[in-house]
Parts: sequence; C-alpha cells; structure tokens
Amino acid sequence: MSEPTKILLTEDQIPTSWINVLPELPGGALPPLHPGTMQPAGPDDLSALFPPAVIEQEVSSEHEIKIPDAVREALGLWRPTPMYRARALEQAIGTRSRIYYKYEGVSPAGSHKPNSAIAQAYYNQQAGITKLTTETGAGQWGSALSFAGAKFGIDVEIYMVGSSYDQKPYRRSMMQTWGAQVHRSPSDRTEAGKANAGSPTGSLGIAISEAVELAAQRPDTNYSLGSVLNHVLLHQTVIGQETIAQLGIAGETPDVVIAAAGGGSNFAGLAFPWWREKRRHGLSTRFVATEPAACPTLTQGAYGYDFGDASGLTPLLPMYTLGHGFVPPPVHAGGLRYHGMAPLVSALVKAGEVEARAIRQNETFDAALTFARTEGIIPAPESAHAIRTAVIEAEQADAAGEERVILFLLSGHGHFDLAAYDQYLAGDLEDPEFSSAERDRALDELPKGAPAIA
Ligand SMILES: Cc1ncc(COP(=O)(O)O)c(C=O)c1O
Repeated sequence: MSEPTKILLTEDQIPTSWINVLPELPGGALPPLHPGTMQPAGPDDLSALFPPAVIEQEVSSEHEIKIPDAVREALGLWRPTPMYRARALEQAIGTRSRIYYKYEGVSPAGSHKPNSAIAQAYYNQQAGITKLTTETGAGQWGSALSFAGAKFGIDVEIYMVGSSYDQKPYRRSMMQTWGAQVHRSPSDRTEAGKANAGSPTGSLGIAISEAVELAAQRPDTNYSLGSVLNHVLLHQTVIGQETIAQLGIAGETPDVVIAAAGGGSNFAGLAFPWWREKRRHGLSTRFVATEPAACPTLTQGAYGYDFGDASGLTPLLPMYTLGHGFVPPPVHAGGLRYHGMAPLVSALVKAGEVEARAIRQNETFDAALTFARTEGIIPAPESAHAIRTAVIEAEQADAAGEERVILFLLSGHGHFDLAAYDQYLAGDLEDPEFSSAERDRALDELPKGAPAIA
C-alpha cells in the first residue's frame, strides 16, 4: 500500500485550545439584543440559563481558549477522528480532483454534537448545576447531551419534537439508555407546551421554548443549546484543527472546504480554523456552507435581528433568517431545518468570506448512495449535503480542466435515518418546494424595533 486511505492522529494530538474567530470578524461582531429593551444583552440576561464560563466564551476576545483537561480527556474517548482520502468516490465520479473527508460519526452519539455537549456538561457541573434541559429535533443533539450528562453526573431532560419522537423511537431509546428523561413536545409540563397543545407534530421552536422555560425557573437547572451560539461553534473547532494536522501529513492545502449548515456548528468547526489559517498564511482556500433547498436560510433568507426560537423567548440574534415563524418543510435532514443561522457564520457569509449553496433532497440522497457504495459509510442526511457539494466542486473543476483539493465534513452516520433511505430506495422521496411567499410572511413578523443591519 503506497498511499494511505485514512490519516490518523494520536491522542496527544487532540487540540489543546479552541479557536475563537470572534475578535477577527470583519467589521466587528454585532451583539445579541434583549427582546424587551432592544439593548445589547449582557451576561445577566444569560445567567439564568448558562454557566459563567460559557457566557464568557460567548463574548470572549481571546483568540484561543484553553480546553480544560477533563474535557480533553473525555474527548479522547473518540478523538482525534479519522480523515479519509475518498479514492473510491473519486474513481466512481471520474474526477481528477483529490477529495478528503473528516468523519465525526465515530463519536458515541454518531455525530460532531458531543464535542460541545461534553464541554457544556463539564462547565455546568463546575458551576454546581445538577440538571440540564434541552430540545432535540431528529435526536442527534439530544443523544449527545444525554451521553455527556452521563459522563459528568448531570441529569438531562429533553424535549423532543413530536414528529421525531414518533418516527425515531431508537434515538429516544439511546437517550434513555444514557439516563436522560425524554418528553414528547409539545408536552403538558410547561406553559409553552400547553399553549401549543394543538400542534400535532411540534417544532424545534416549541421544544426550545419548553426547555428554556423550565431552566429559567430553577437555580439548579440550566439550558443547553447544540448549535448557533458562539460558544458551541468554538467547541467544534477541534475538528478543523485536526484536519490542519491531517492534511499537513498528506502534504495538501485545501482549495475548498465544505460542510452542511443547519445552525452552523459543524461548518464552523471545520471551516473556522482554516479561515484563520487563510488569513495568517495567505491561502486561497474557498469555503462553502451547504443547506437544503427547502430551508435555504443563507441563500434566500434576510440578514437581520430575529429570535432564535419560534415563541420569541430568546435574545435577538444578528443572523440570516427565514423568519422565526417559518416552518421548514419536513425534509429528512432534520438538523438542517432551522429558520436561522449562527451569527458568526452569517457574518462571514455577509462579508463574502463564505459562499452558500442550496441542494435539493433527492440530489443529496443520490450522492449519499454513491458515497455509501464506494466509501462504505452510510451518511446522515445532513452530511449528504456536504457530499453532494463536494461532488459538484469536483465536477466543476473537471469542466474547467483543474484539479482541486476538496475537503468536506462527514458530520455523522445515518444509522437512525434508514426510514429516509427506504423512501429514497422506493422512489417515494419528495423534493419539497420552498415557499418564498411563506418566507415573506414570516419575515414580515421579524421583531419590530430592532436596528436594521447592513
Ligand atoms: C449529523 C448532523 N450534521 C449536521 C447537523 C447540523 O447542525 P449544525 O449546523 O449545528 O452542525 C446536525 C444537526 O443536528 C446533525 O445531526
């Protein structure tokens, strides 16, 4: 074997710091706003929900933040994660480009989500918190936090979007196996749940409202979020840092870095360390965030202040949004069905530093099957967006007579998404249309009184 298929690092190569791009953001960072006063939300507005260390990270001006030893040790259960050269995929699509992918599906929960869950559970335990509440859609974040809660001795209570609770019983079993309590949302345990009792399917927005409401009421209970906020993106930067070492071993520099973007955390995790590398060393690397055509936040959303949840309980965030009242069609990439986008990712898209591309559902499953039949791993539907985008980049390079080095993130496996694969294989998978009229209606309800941002 002359050329290796996978590039592995040793445990002592797990990064020792997280990379914080906040101080380097072009034009500076815009603050979140308190929804009542429309003034910048301060630490006090967040202290009912988050521990002090996490609030500090949310606004930190440090370029690097040390990873606590206990967190690094817990990450060592599965990190560093492997990076592969996708030779079989390259051959199948007949490209001259070289495609590499970083695989986060080797974590206990099967995705990148535990990278932040472990850190959040640790900081909450240090702050004397005994219980965390959260929401989960398809169940990836809920399972990650359940696992992290078990590691750090914290009770976890999860509000799972009703339709997923019914469709994905084994994700629920996973969370319960790690000791979490899982409730179907809307539930009758909260005012937000009772107010939405008529919703047959529930939504992420309702589930967030339930989890936030409970955490805000009890001093021993905090809330934990799996994406969007700066500290969550920060925790994911172990991914990109490892790929810098791994591509270094291969003697390569990426021409393009690609990841799916739901709330923005796996994209940021891969891309931010490379973006900093580009700034420091003058690389010509491009960055592409990819999203479902049915929920095209970055490509068809507005840039403005909006709520993070459907019920308007959270601070207002400066971000691309389809409107907090927009209910995305039920594509199987549940983790990408979010009306907003991380402020940090949004700012980089706005500044032209990151490109965005929307992909239709059937196209992503086509790519997922090609990938499974060549590289072997059955991808999560979210990750399949990155695969399809990598293939498009390779096709474009071939058409232009170029060879590109393409790096994408395979954010998780799809072992709990096989019902979606069944539908695709039976030819029954829909390509739900995005409704710009629905978006316009939802954008009309953006919070009044928030400053416009250019
Ligand atoms: C496997 C996988 N990839 C990607 C995402 C998208 O989330 P984010 O944009 O925060 O990485 C999710 C969210 O649940 C996920 O489970």
